[in-house]
Amino acid sequence: MNPASHLDSTDPLADFRNRFVHSSDEADLIYLDGNSLGKQPTAVRQVLTQVVDHEWGERLIRGWNEGWLDISGSVGDLIGELLGAQHGEVTLAENTSVCLYKTAVAVLRSHPQRPTVLTDSENFPSDIQILRSACGSAGSDHHVKVVDTSSASDPTSALLDALDDSTALVSLSHVSYKTGWRWNLKEINDAAAKVDAQVLWDFSHSVGAVPIDVQSDGVTLAVGCTYKYLNGGPGAPAFIYVRSDQDDLANPITGWFGTADPFSFDASSPPASGIERFLTGTPHVVSAALIRPGVEMLLEAGMERVYEKSVSLSQRFIELCDERLSSSGFEVRSPRDPQNRGSHVALFHPDAQAVGLALINEKSVIPDFRPPDLLRFGFAPLYTSFTDVDLTVSRIMEAVEDGGVDRWRNENPLVP
Ligand SMILES: Cc1ncc(COP(=O)(O)O)c(C=O)c1O
Repeated sequence: MNPASHLDSTDPLADFRNRFVHSSDEADLIYLDGNSLGKQPTAVRQVLTQVVDHEWGERLIRGWNEGWLDISGSVGDLIGELLGAQHGEVTLAENTSVCLYKTAVAVLRSHPQRPTVLTDSENFPSDIQILRSACGSAGSDHHVKVVDTSSASDPTSALLDALDDSTALVSLSHVSYKTGWRWNLKEINDAAAKVDAQVLWDFSHSVGAVPIDVQSDGVTLAVGCTYKYLNGGPGAPAFIYVRSDQDDLANPITGWFGTADPFSFDASSPPASGIERFLTGTPHVVSAALIRPGVEMLLEAGMERVYEKSVSLSQRFIELCDERLSSSGFEVRSPRDPQNRGSHVALFHPDAQAVGLALINEKSVIPDFRPPDLLRFGFAPLYTSFTDVDLTVSRIMEAVEDGGVDRWRNENPLVP
């Protein structure tokens, strides 16, 4: 038995792979883009039948009293279990962008005398745009300070050097979408607390991949998407976590679902108490229901085991890339220390896009490309095997050697 097969045969999470949909037409497909869109849990089909055929098809409007009304909170609580949050601190809402906006504006309005939002250059570009929008809605002096951490040897010091008592909010992606860099939650939260600044985390690339304990990590505010490692499906709603003691934070987009009694049809209805005040309009019932199976599997697997496998997979990939691909112009651009890394690995190559297209179109491997020169390989521990890791490195090598890269050099797909 080769070493990867041995690791697969002793992997305690190996059986979870069978609980995801795999296309029988593409039996040898290796999917390494679960950090962008997670695979579909097989249980989603039953949930879909239940929600669409039974609840909507047969129960119709009665569905609101049979689970739809509090679906944002009930699925939110399930995600809350993954985060170590208390009951009633997490809700689903819209998408990550809107959740980030709502939470950021809430903080800025509660700290009107502090004009600065601190973030870093490796944050998701759209998050930086959203933070600028939040500043625009909060007041004319508010602005975003973007610390350039792209080449910092110590990103944490670079960021914290810019933190001062003008900072209302620090907002960061826990794991960087590009390089996979992972901030130490507690270190940043503690430093911000010393100058009375709030921290708003984007957990999109970390939830379901690395362990998070909002209580021991000192997290007050977070948002995140559910379609990556939570496997909630394309366009699934995002989540907001607001610690229960943050009573002074108010949702800037008030609407009936965020009020104490939506069905009073009263335009003066006060905000709901707790996390529900961050809701605005009608929940996305069908997509919300589809989030459950993925989160339930992660809870069943246990985040400790999921993380342990994530580290083993990504570490193995890094070592094989160093060993077999560095002489062909590839370079690992993710942190080497797993403590500073999420569950994806970024690989530099001058022709990264062409390599990616050759892998997708000729080698049955799906990574993704981030301009100008990075490929990302996401290792979702519930459905990725050690054999997948080894085969991927071999197929990258083949794509270089058999001219595949040259064949795809001039292509430009709509979604990279
Ligand atoms: C870190 C991060 N934040 C936010 C988003 C955007 O989320 P949405 O489009 O759901 O608002 C993404 C999308 O990939 C992301 O990676």
